[in-house]
Amino acid sequence: MTPKQIGLIGVTWDKVLPIAETAAELFYGKLFELNPELKPLFKGDLKEQGKKLMTMLDAVVKSLDNLEAIIPAAQESGVRHVGYGVKDEDYDTVAEALLWTLGQGLGDDFTDEVKEAWTAAYVILSGVMKDAAKEVAA
Ligand code: HEM
Repeated sequence: MTPKQIGLIGVTWDKVLPIAETAAELFYGKLFELNPELKPLFKGDLKEQGKKLMTMLDAVVKSLDNLEAIIPAAQESGVRHVGYGVKDEDYDTVAEALLWTLGQGLGDDFTDEVKEAWTAAYVILSGVMKDAAKEVAA
């Protein structure tokens, strides 16, 4: 990721944070619209889950200039996600829902450049999670 991309993510995340609760609702709505089969995987309260997701994303955004620091946590999370029944291809569905949600929250600020920056960050993070998941399966 380039320093510019890291900057763009920081600026746009600051705009999403005040509407984090709404963003989480939009996200799950879109996710289950894209693939209703994912709904039963979420056993807990979606509001709580949404908070965890936003907290995790917040930690990721704040670590973008030092991604090595969160690799162990992302690996552990990837392994836990296997236990939740999450499959490799589901990461693409989550990516689509997440980018769509950012687009809703940011409106005109969701430029192609911003979208590319978020995509780059998601590819890195989800890659670490998926690789760790494959290690468990192997
Ligand atoms: C970069 C991608 C992702 C991030 C940052 C993320 C983040 C989180 C976090 C922070 C939790 C809380 C529990 C824990 O840490 O183990 C969690 C749980 C969970 N995630 Fe993810 N996740 C990601 C991808 C996915 C994908 C692709 C799916 C597929 C549908 C998914 C489904 C779930 C489920 C089902 C739970 C457990 C919910 C429950 O117990 O009710 N996550 N996720």
